[in-house]
Amino acid sequence: MKKFAFIFHPLDLGYIHRQFPWTRVLPDSALKAALRALPPGVISRITGIGSARAEAEGWFINVPLTADQMLSLPEEIVIKKIVRAGRLAEQLGAQVLGLGAFTAIVGDAGTEVAKQLHIPVTTGNSYTVGMALAGIRLAAKKMCIDLKKAEVLVVGANGAIGSACSRILAREVNYLTVASRNDRRLEGLARRILRESGLAVRIAADLKSALTQADIVISVTGSATPVIEPQDLKPGAVVCDVARPRDVSQEVAKARPDVLVIEGGVVRVPGAVDFGFDFGFPPGTSYACMAETMILALEGRQDSFTLGRNLSVEQIDEIMQLGNKHGFELAGLRSFDRAVRENEIKAIRKQAEFSGSSRRFS
Ligand SMILES: NC(=O)c1ccc[n+]([C@@H]2O[C@H](COP(=O)([O-])OP(=O)(O)OC[C@H]3O[C@@H](n4cnc5c(N)ncnc54)[C@H](OP(=O)(O)O)[C@@H]3O)[C@@H](O)[C@H]2O)c1
Repeated sequence: MKKFAFIFHPLDLGYIHRQFPWTRVLPDSALKAALRALPPGVISRITGIGSARAEAEGWFINVPLTADQMLSLPEEIVIKKIVRAGRLAEQLGAQVLGLGAFTAIVGDAGTEVAKQLHIPVTTGNSYTVGMALAGIRLAAKKMCIDLKKAEVLVVGANGAIGSACSRILAREVNYLTVASRNDRRLEGLARRILRESGLAVRIAADLKSALTQADIVISVTGSATPVIEPQDLKPGAVVCDVARPRDVSQEVAKARPDVLVIEGGVVRVPGAVDFGFDFGFPPGTSYACMAETMILALEGRQDSFTLGRNLSVEQIDEIMQLGNKHGFELAGLRSFDRAVRENEIKAIRKQAEFSGSSRRFS
């Protein structure tokens, strides 16, 4: 039996309020101080992961800090807490450790944490990229959008996931725009893409205006609050929101029946997995970053797989192949925590036509 652990954290205080309603009476500052003082702990035991070739089980470990705290506290405090969680994983017997949400962002995307632990560490970002792109290809097909003719926009393109998505998409699309806050780094990315795939990508001068022109959006910023609002999107657009916390405001679900917003990287796990904890997904499915940790455990990999911000295309291809080998697959399309049905996609297309979309249908 192979063993792994996966670290996550409460995305915001709302999450704590929902789990422990009595905390609503506390001022935010007191609740944040309490979280800061709490040590990491085991949330649940994960059992029943089984491919035709191997079996695995593991643990979810909580690092009690919100996304906002991970960004605002001194980095050494955050890293120290993640390393404590990693040591707990080692004591439990985990052979590989996955870093979830913002624990995968701090310390040069897992590099600092991995240096201080004795077991291999992964951010899970390689499989996240592969599965987000698989989701976008499927959603575009269902919405009859030809990727070659579409205006494609990557938001958060300077990040680990965003830059890898941009570089791979550049091999498949003709019109690619990249957006992030740091223009100098975007220029470096644009030069790299031109070198690698010959595509001249555009750099968004203004995020909001780039969004109104995009047929396909992948959004994967490290922002603690939404960056995409209902009025920003083109009718008929497909948006893949990979970020956690979400980049796409919940308001979009109510106000824009003419766009398809999908979650990035929802994966079906082989076997009869029981996570022992409800993180909002249907039974038997997980985030892609969790799935990467499980795949590496099933493979018995002895090395840290995805660390740092410079993901390689080969690495992404390799984890996709390993995922296939063990029976992991894309679990259809999900939008704002629920499955997207075929008739809903038809309704979105109809509504987009009605809204006078100027999209290019294939
Ligand atoms: N769904 C999944 O399975 C999964 C798996 C792993 C990670 N994630 C999520 O994916 C997101 C990105 O992860 P990552 O590892 O790629 O992080 P990252 O390397 O830190 O990249 C995030 C990028 O977003 C940009 N950014 C940050 N704040 C922004 C803001 N307010 N507005 C616009 N752009 C902003 C930054 O570039 P600039 O400084 O240039 O703006 C940064 O390079 C996180 O939300 C993470 O939790 C999801």
